[in-house]
Formats: sequence, structure tokens, C-alpha cells
Amino acid sequence: MGGEAFLRNQWYVAAMSDEIGDRPLARVICNEPVVVYRGKSGAVHTLTNRCPHRKAPLSIGDIHGDDLACGYHGIRFGGNGDCTHVPGDTPVGRHFRARHYPTVERHNMIFIWMGEVERVDESLIPDFHQADHPDWAHVKGYLHIKGNYQLMIDNILDLTHVVFVHKTTLAGGGVTETPLEVSVENDVVRAQRHMYNVDTAPIYKAARNLHDKIDRWQLFEFRAPMYCWVTLGARAAGADEPFGKPTHIVLNAFTPETDTTCHYFWFTVRDWALDDPVIQATYQRMIDLAFREDAAIVEQQQALIDSDTSGAPMVSLAFDRAGVAARRIIRRKLEEEANERRVAAE
Ligand code: FES
Ligand SMILES: [Fe+2]
Repeated sequence: MGGEAFLRNQWYVAAMSDEIGDRPLARVICNEPVVVYRGKSGAVHTLTNRCPHRKAPLSIGDIHGDDLACGYHGIRFGGNGDCTHVPGDTPVGRHFRARHYPTVERHNMIFIWMGEVERVDESLIPDFHQADHPDWAHVKGYLHIKGNYQLMIDNILDLTHVVFVHKTTLAGGGVTETPLEVSVENDVVRAQRHMYNVDTAPIYKAARNLHDKIDRWQLFEFRAPMYCWVTLGARAAGADEPFGKPTHIVLNAFTPETDTTCHYFWFTVRDWALDDPVIQATYQRMIDLAFREDAAIVEQQQALIDSDTSGAPMVSLAFDRAGVAARRIIRRKLEEEANERRVAAE
């Protein structure tokens, strides 16, 4: 790719809300070590995990009020990075502070801004409201993936693979035979597949009791840098139910960790059978399994990409069009950010 690998002036999901308990959480985001912690006020803060004193991990320290004390020599930093306490009141320079990352807790997730603080724009946080809304039930998961985040975007935007990878959960009829319709508008990629009178899928048998032929739909939306909404649904073939209504929506965030690894945060939400423990367990089991299958493929793919000395490019086919469009948007935005940095440096 060359140059900076990740978009900076963006929100990235750093953690699920319920991962941030009494202890600081260390995580690498876009090649930067960060520590996420919840202060006693309840607010979540993110600092560099590299203590500005001797570069020990702040994450091994303790939380004091809304400050974090480094576990090595006890220097404390506030959620905004200011140094608030030095043991022995040893004087420190005015500029001695920890980098802080603007942090917003929303939709049961922790979003952090990896770019310039003066460019923070909360309107760019993706609308994942169904992940924290009384009209919607959800199952959720986190996977650490030994693969570049763009491989995961490719994966989710091309559900042709469900037939081959997710045989016991999401497979079923109509997918490979039906072309993916793709449209790009500004920086948003949308894709869809409408399938009529096709074999049912294991998940629709288990969750919806649909055992015979179905009409089914896959609707995709991608927004940079790495958010994908996937709306999936089915009805008995020809039934008098609205086509396109979600049986469930998968909210996906693929946060880069390093050039060859990423964090996968997902919610699968539905607006029916909200309190049904059997449906809930079915979804958790099937989606967990399916996404582990995706992880296994992508990790093997990354390993083979890493060991490939041939220089041969990957080949893109018609059903890769949405993923290709997403990559094009990311590449253009990376170039825009590089140009902005160049102009600012001049
Ligand atoms: S390394 Fe953190 S206080 Fe010394
Ligand atoms: Fe998949």
C-alpha cells in the first residue's frame, strides 16, 4: 500500500463497553499501544499505553478517581493526558503529559479517535443504535483476527462464501447463482442480492422455522474506515411479508491492530422474539460459529499472502465488486490524508 496504512481522522471501536471494568485494558489500535479505562465517574478514557516517563505500560497501573497511575513509578495522568501527580512531588516539565485519545462510549461500544484532536467529529460515529435499544435484542462477540482488516471487509461484503464456509449455519440456496448488485454513492458502498424460491438456510430453519423454499435477501452497506451493516432476511417463498425486512442485522466493526491483524467487534440484532432464550442461544451459537469460520479462512489467507514471494496480485471477480469498491474508497481517503499532512508540513 505504501505510506500510512490506516486512516487517522476516524473513530475506531477500541472495545466493547462491558470489556471496560475495574482494570485498564491494553490494546493496540492502528499500530499504536493504547490503554482504555473507566474512571470512577463512569467516563471512559483512552491514553497512550506508553508511559511518557520510561515507556512502561500504563495498563499495569491502577485507577485513582479518573486518573491512571503508572504501575512502574506511580506517576498519574488524567483522562485528558495531563500529569496530575508525581510521587515525591518531583517537578516535571510543562509538556510532560500522556497522549490522550478522544473517547466516546456509544451503542455498547467504546469509540476512540485516532487522529488530530482538533478534527474530532462525533457525527462520524457509525449508527449502530440497535446494539443498545429496547426494541432490539442482540448477541455479540469479539474476535482477535490474525489478518488485515481489509480482508475482513472483503469477507463480509461478499457473502458468496456462505455456501462454502458456513455450511451448517448461513448457507442455503440462491447465493452463488444470484449476481451481487453494487452501487457506490459518495463514500458509501451498497450491495444487495435478492433471491426467490430458493432452498432454506440452517439459520432460518432453526430460528424462523422456515423449512421449505424461501425468498431471501442480503443487503450490505459499507462506510469507511471499516464499518459494515449486513441486513439478512427470509420469508416463506411468496409469503405476504415485506421483502427486505431484516430477520437480523449484523453490525460489524473491523479495527486494525497491526498491518496483519485486526479486532473484530460484532453485534447481531433482531427486533422480534426479544425475550426468547432459545432464539437467543440459537443466534449466539450459529453466529459465533460462522464468524470463527471466517476468522480461520482469513488467517490462513493472511499467512499465505505473507509467504507469497510471487508478486502476483489477487484477482477480483464480479462478486468481489463491493469489496473492491470499499478498498478504492479507503485508498483514496488515505491519499487525501497523506496530502493534508504534506500540505500541513510545508
Ligand atoms: S515508567 Fe511510568 S512512571 Fe515511570
Ligand atoms: Fe462469513
